[in-house]
Amino acid sequence: MYKSLIRPLIFQLDSELAHNLFVKAARGAELPIAQKALKKIYAYEDPRLEVGLFGFNFASPLGLAAGFDKNCEAFDYFSALGFAFIEVGTVTSQAQPGNPRPRIFRIPESRAIINRMGFPSEGMSLVKPRLARAYNRKSRPVIGVNIGKLKSVSLDDAARDYQLCFRELRNYGDYFVLNVSSPNTPELRRLQEPERLKDLLQSISELNKDKKPVLLKIAPDLEGKDLADLIKVCASASVDGIVATNTTFSRSGLIKDPNQTGGLSGEPLRQIAIKKVRYISDATAGTIPIIGVGGISTAADVVAMLQAGARLVQLYTAFIYEGPSLVRKIKQDLSLYLDRNGIAKLSDLTGPR
Ligand code: FNR
Repeated sequence: MYKSLIRPLIFQLDSELAHNLFVKAARGAELPIAQKALKKIYAYEDPRLEVGLFGFNFASPLGLAAGFDKNCEAFDYFSALGFAFIEVGTVTSQAQPGNPRPRIFRIPESRAIINRMGFPSEGMSLVKPRLARAYNRKSRPVIGVNIGKLKSVSLDDAARDYQLCFRELRNYGDYFVLNVSSPNTPELRRLQEPERLKDLLQSISELNKDKKPVLLKIAPDLEGKDLADLIKVCASASVDGIVATNTTFSRSGLIKDPNQTGGLSGEPLRQIAIKKVRYISDATAGTIPIIGVGGISTAADVVAMLQAGARLVQLYTAFIYEGPSLVRKIKQDLSLYLDRNGIAKLSDLTGPR
């Protein structure tokens, strides 16, 4: 129904308007009756898909990537669809509007999106009570909180800005992600440089009294010595995990609109992201858990990401093209994959080597 009826309607609208309407409508899932109905349609469980990581039991390796529910408005909806974890954000220390619109562009020919959002956020104070409510739900997916810096804050003051956000939200997330890789906030990616990164990680670690897992989200465009140096810093600072990857500057594999400014996601990103995951996994001998993200849209993509060394995966763009039933479909297909290949559990495909 999504692809034949709803998607054609949604795709008539401006991408961001469609997204905002979708998120507002999804708020209806807070009602217990809606929760029940959605779960009836979308629920699918198979204990063989479970993943134990960071002290949590993830019901499957499949999570919602950051950027979809930036302000934690639709947590109950995504929870009912069957995501094992939901990464809220990017949240910033104060509200900011982000870049001028239009700033999200669908490219259906390549099953891709280019966005230059620039962290529009309602700010941590408004997000906090919603996050707290989600966090206190009895039975719920694992919650990640992705934080970033304000555009107006200089690189030298960035660590303090991340600290503000972390201090405010640290009690309401299961794990935290420092986003240092969005291509749409000027200079943000320079926080991936070794000295700046050490500073940032140290600043967060000082405040992390409950030892919440802190992960780093990195750019797919990081290469060679830059990537090797980043991995060294992550290893020596005992980063709990790496989210690989954010959107790319590359336009390789894109059939249309190569000149649109912004970060590219979806199918053209998949091989780039898988390659990065494999590189990091090999370089660290699997000792730093990786959440693989970029172009995931089928069970085969999940398997490829896990085989490259990811412990968990996330998706965003495929959800826009495939709709809500994608989550159940991928999980069902993963179960079939296990049956056909005589594999006892999915986590056998990956993990420390
Ligand atoms: C994103 N992404 C993103 N990532 C992040 O860490 N913080 C954010 O606020 C956003 N915002 C955002 C908006 C839009 C419109 C898109 C398409 C993407 C990146 C996202 O989490 C993911 O890393 C990439 O999109 C790659 O995954 P997919 O989309 O190829 O599955």
